[in-house]
Amino acid sequence: MSLHVIILAAGQGSRMKSDQPKVIHKLAGKPMLQHVIDTASQLDAETIHIVVGHGAETVKETIKDKHINWCLQAEQLGTGHAVAQSINAIPKDADVLILYGDVPLTSVDTLQELVQSVERKQLSLLTVNLENPIGYGRIIRCADDNIGAIIEEKDATDEQRLVNEVNTGILAMSADALHRYIPLLSNSNAQEEYYLTDIIEIAVKNGDCVVSHQPQFEQEVQGVNNRLQLCELECWHQSRISEQLMLAGVTLYDPNRIDVRGSLEFGRDVVIDLNCIFEGHVRLGDGVQIGPNCIIKNATIGSGSIIHANSIIEDTEVAENVNVGPFARLRPGTKLSKGSKVGNFVETKKTIVGEGSKINHLSYVGDAILGTNVNVGAGTITCNYDGVNKFKTELGDGVFVGSNSSLVAPVKVGSNATIGAGSTVTKEIEDEQLAVARAKQRNIDGWLRPVKN
Ligand code: UD1
Ligand code: CA
Repeated sequence: MSLHVIILAAGQGSRMKSDQPKVIHKLAGKPMLQHVIDTASQLDAETIHIVVGHGAETVKETIKDKHINWCLQAEQLGTGHAVAQSINAIPKDADVLILYGDVPLTSVDTLQELVQSVERKQLSLLTVNLENPIGYGRIIRCADDNIGAIIEEKDATDEQRLVNEVNTGILAMSADALHRYIPLLSNSNAQEEYYLTDIIEIAVKNGDCVVSHQPQFEQEVQGVNNRLQLCELECWHQSRISEQLMLAGVTLYDPNRIDVRGSLEFGRDVVIDLNCIFEGHVRLGDGVQIGPNCIIKNATIGSGSIIHANSIIEDTEVAENVNVGPFARLRPGTKLSKGSKVGNFVETKKTIVGEGSKINHLSYVGDAILGTNVNVGAGTITCNYDGVNKFKTELGDGVFVGSNSSLVAPVKVGSNATIGAGSTVTKEIEDEQLAVARAKQRNIDGWLRPVKN
């Protein structure tokens, strides 16, 4: 049976007090709606239909997924009306799962269970028992304990409001039933909206079997209405990731002070100090140590490498047994080979550092290729940019660059060449040569210092 997923995302989200549509606010570095799409994708959905309204264009621009069927709900007349905007695109022999763009953390397992029970010709609802059910639609069960209806808070009697089991909004049913029941919805209720929830009572009257499932965690079905709730879900999500990391063998000095905004792969005996942020896809090899306050984005760190405090690393490959930082900035296109070292206050960009090579202090090295066992002295700068174009610097194996040198690119330095400290190198240097390119020192005898007038 093919599965079609409908994600409702047309609401304004006015309590976010934002110029951005609610569903593109980020959780763990990713728009909430993208979390829902990614989860739906793992269910092997045939098509994902997203109903948009408020800020529709912004939402579509943010979510660049090509396989989505976007449906416009020009006026928000209720959740039932929202679903109606997408059903024409759904074949009657399919199953349908309804999700919400502002409920970002439902697990694949929970939804799988829901979808599987539809295959057995049931309408399945995801419900949850809340200590404080205020604001939610209440699940009304009949004498035989089967679900009879969902009553919205605003339409409920005092007695119905005492019910703790609430509607999460998430449900799965056959498209055939959805096609038949949606036209039967009316808006004669307290909010004058077409409630999707009224479908339950209609289904029961038609003799359908309505079953309920509960998620493992309450947070899986929590919606975000304001920034406080967004932050609460973010914290819960991060604490779950921390728990999983520790149970899988990663040492975290403080599980409350790490953020993973993407995916983190790791080997054995990885140690992560305080306040680190991992973004995009990051891989840490065996025995990697990350010092405090590091930001690592889309990078691979090889086994045995140490990233010292306050280093920022992006789109970079670090091989095994490399030392980075403290205070290093590795920008996109940096590749550090085995046993190399990039020390404090060093910035690299589009640079390959060969095995065992060192850039230990206070340097900018961009658009450069360093061979093996190169030593770049403190304060070395590659002048790679003439204001319009970028040029390359090539340093052969065993090159020694004296401190405070400027390498004016394009420039090539042959193997085992030496550059005297303070040189401004503008011409190619051949293998084994010494280049000194600085003003000669003059010593003046008997120099009298100026005296005050
Ligand atoms: C809805 C449910 C309620 C449930 C609660 C769970 C209905 C009638 N009620 O109530 O039983 O307990 O969710 O959070 O379904 N939306 C649209 N178009 C619309 C209206 C809503 O796309 O015309 C979207 C909103 O963007 C939002 C979602 O549907 O993501 C839920 O709408 P909302 O108005 O928040 O419903 P609730 O009153 O919370
Ligand atoms: Ca809501």
